[in-house]
Amino acid sequence: MLPVALRHSRLPRLVTRTLRSTLQCPSSLRCFTVLGIESSADDTGVAIVTSNAKILANVVKKQHLVHENYGGIHPYVAVQTHQKNLARAVKEALEQANMRATDVDGIAFTRGPGMTGCLGVGSSAARTLAAALSKPLVGVHHMQAHALTPLLTSPPSSRPQFPFLTLLVSGGHTLLLLATSVSDFRILASTPDEAVGRVFDKVSRMLCLPWSKLGPGAALEEFCLDDVDGTAPAVEVPTLPGAMPSVLGFSFSGLHSAVERFVTANGGGEALDVPTKRALAREFQRAAVAQLEEKVQLGFDFCRRKGFEVRHVVVSGGVASNSYLRERLRIRMEQASPDVPIALVFPPPSLCTDNAAMIAWASMPRFLAGDFDDYSIAIRPKWSIEELSS
Ligand code: KG4
Ligand code: ZN
Repeated sequence: MLPVALRHSRLPRLVTRTLRSTLQCPSSLRCFTVLGIESSADDTGVAIVTSNAKILANVVKKQHLVHENYGGIHPYVAVQTHQKNLARAVKEALEQANMRATDVDGIAFTRGPGMTGCLGVGSSAARTLAAALSKPLVGVHHMQAHALTPLLTSPPSSRPQFPFLTLLVSGGHTLLLLATSVSDFRILASTPDEAVGRVFDKVSRMLCLPWSKLGPGAALEEFCLDDVDGTAPAVEVPTLPGAMPSVLGFSFSGLHSAVERFVTANGGGEALDVPTKRALAREFQRAAVAQLEEKVQLGFDFCRRKGFEVRHVVVSGGVASNSYLRERLRIRMEQASPDVPIALVFPPPSLCTDNAAMIAWASMPRFLAGDFDDYSIAIRPKWSIEELSS
């Protein structure tokens, strides 16, 4: 950690004023500008974001197609691809923002959780850039960044107010959190087995759906939406299971196995006729989303019992771009609180998936507080979001 005097001497004058108030700054004054780097899994992201919530640049280089043949993220290939893409992504972000690297006020990067090698690529680049440019550095928690994205993307009138519930649904995580400040999160429910996004990916693969440029989960959603020509499925698809009814916790391995058993019993994904595949995809999506809905409702009831006045539910992470999930949650929240409206807040789909704008944004409170990391800071591939409070 840098000495306090030195730390503050590096901040633009406005920032010390902004410290005690909000993240906003009047447009006539210069804001704090952060270049963020995201490389926790299979997307290489670089973005430039200001303390008054302007995204000046947002570059995401996706790797889905590179990993398609491996059936999941191949760690070594992911590291190599980050290494190949990151320098160009930094250059493109600076060009998009029409800035030079020296114009940036701080460098942020994803410190964890995530894949060790992948985190290492972004961390090395960020630490080297910050050291070479003599800029302050902040390492960010990836899931905190997903949770805080709506504070960047929502207009002030619909910005979520603390305390709010956050459902984070991605390829690596299924988490229901109670957020009481930008750095205080309590885990209400998580999964001991598979993350919902990963199961979407695996089912999509089992059904041999083409991965489209959006990736396997989005391909499955698209397949469910496709028009049907009226042909009945050759095989009747069973009702798929939920998990641990009335328990505040997720589990997706039972659902995954049930789909796998059905597919195997019927000769494999290649052998299934399209109407059966579509019926199975729809039943899978229904069961996965029904579980998410139920646990959000349980979390909401829990908060109420504990005296937290929750008025917003933030839904983020890659799976949050699923429109069936959005619609079901809307219906569920109307039922859960018929008198007091509960606002569901979704970042725009492009910022639901991994991106560096959320990383730059999540770093902002720490930059504005002069709370920087040392250039030798280590990555945290495993890192509970609850540790941020301490
Ligand atoms: O947040 P994200 O980009 O990366 C992780 O941190 O994992 O989430 C990626 C996950 C993948 O599993 C992807 O298949 C899933 O989100 N996903 C979807 C949809 N779009 C992305 N799952 C269901 N429906 C979608 N439309
Ligand atoms: Zn993510």
